[in-house]
Amino acid sequence: MARFVVNTLNKKSKIAKEIYGHFSEHLGRCIYEGIYVGENSSIPNKNGMRSDVVEALKKMKIPVLRWPGGCFADEYHWMDGIGPKEQRKKMVNTHWGGVVEDNSFGTDEFMELCSQLGCEPYVNGNVGSGTIQEMQNWIEYMTFDGISPMAELRKNNGREKPYSLKYFGVGNENWGCGGNMRPEYYADLYRRYQTYVRNYGDNKIFRIACGANSDDYNWTETVVKLAGRYMDAITMHYYTVPGDSWSNKGSATEFTVEEWYKTLSKTLRMDEIIARHSEIIKKYDPTNRIGLIVDEWGTWYDVEPGTNPGFLYQQNTMRDALVAGINLNIFNKRSDVVVMANIAQLVNVLQSVILTEGGKMILTPTYHVFEMYKEHQDAVLLDSFIETNSIGAEKYNVPNLHESVSMSSDGKIIITLCNLSVDESCKIDAEIVGTKVNNIKGRVLTGGMADHNTFEEPDKVNPKEFNNFSITEKGFSLEIPAVSVVSLSLN
Ligand code: AHR
Repeated sequence: MARFVVNTLNKKSKIAKEIYGHFSEHLGRCIYEGIYVGENSSIPNKNGMRSDVVEALKKMKIPVLRWPGGCFADEYHWMDGIGPKEQRKKMVNTHWGGVVEDNSFGTDEFMELCSQLGCEPYVNGNVGSGTIQEMQNWIEYMTFDGISPMAELRKNNGREKPYSLKYFGVGNENWGCGGNMRPEYYADLYRRYQTYVRNYGDNKIFRIACGANSDDYNWTETVVKLAGRYMDAITMHYYTVPGDSWSNKGSATEFTVEEWYKTLSKTLRMDEIIARHSEIIKKYDPTNRIGLIVDEWGTWYDVEPGTNPGFLYQQNTMRDALVAGINLNIFNKRSDVVVMANIAQLVNVLQSVILTEGGKMILTPTYHVFEMYKEHQDAVLLDSFIETNSIGAEKYNVPNLHESVSMSSDGKIIITLCNLSVDESCKIDAEIVGTKVNNIKGRVLTGGMADHNTFEEPDKVNPKEFNNFSITEKGFSLEIPAVSVVSLSLN
């Protein structure tokens, strides 16, 4: 019986709803087909945005969406994507499959999408191949409410009022696809570009600097040291790649028990990587003003056989559900420093919450985890401890359980638990300090380790009601199945 203690008297940081954020890029079938089908499509849509996808994302309570990339961001020239669609430039998407980008989805369409979703837009600017003037004009186009060339242009394109834009990123992966820069050079460019990211009227922009590739601590150290005073947050990207090289990342659906544990042990590294970056940030910012944004994370496998290698389309199994559950628990527990996270990517690319095929749509196990965890959004983290056993394959030991706990604004205790074991259920005895448990509502997502939803069998992996618990004098006890993610709401 594993001991689990929740101390409701020890309230910690607020879990920013933005931790449950997403990322959409002009990559493969993410934007085109996955989200945007155009006004004249036979697929039901509102102003070109497919209604099934929008409804599903609203149900999951998507809080923030990043766009237009990724690597695409540092090649994107926003003026190509505004005005009458038939006059928009057609260009080649050099990064992602060399396909034609017709720019029919641009700034006004992205803002329309965010308004339909009821989420915050997070726009990523171009430092790698864009000019300062271009970035300055973009901010003016989106947010200025007065007389100016860019505000006039927006009005001529049919949008009278400025948009509200909080999150703006100054470049993406500028150590790689965003210009192959050294951190010293990027820090200077960041200082310069961000100067012209203006706050117009009441619109206050949260300035985001491009951060490190996983454990490149030198990048964070240098950029924060040289430019920290000019930023509100710095990013970090860490993908879970089960294979040993980029040319052999492993299959999304066909894997061994050893690969299961290898994947989970690699994903658990997120905690240490965040801890080490945040130590560095704190060294230069002892008041904790600068946040850390993990704006790309998730599994990255070999593409589904027979699909375009440049489209990064992959399936999504119970293994991905565990990866999502573990990472979201880590972000909750690190919410004193992690102010946003954006899983890559929203639809049809990498660890997506939704897959589409023409007019058909399926929800992935990862979708269900985000939906089951949504009560953590804007709740307050509670102190918790769970006793674990070390399990797994020889080189890839992992704890059998993983958890996080929060209290929502209406006083409910929200618990999310993962059982990482492929074959053993686990009995847990929970003590809830500081309050009496009267009621528990639970849900569980479980199945075989490679179970996944397909267009033929869309509901194979689906959350079910969970009632394998009993209320005890000190709290409750329960048994969670192998390969599972459980959410509980207590009052
Ligand atoms: O998510 C796919 C790509 O991964 C992004 O475009 C880039 O930022 C990262 O390397």
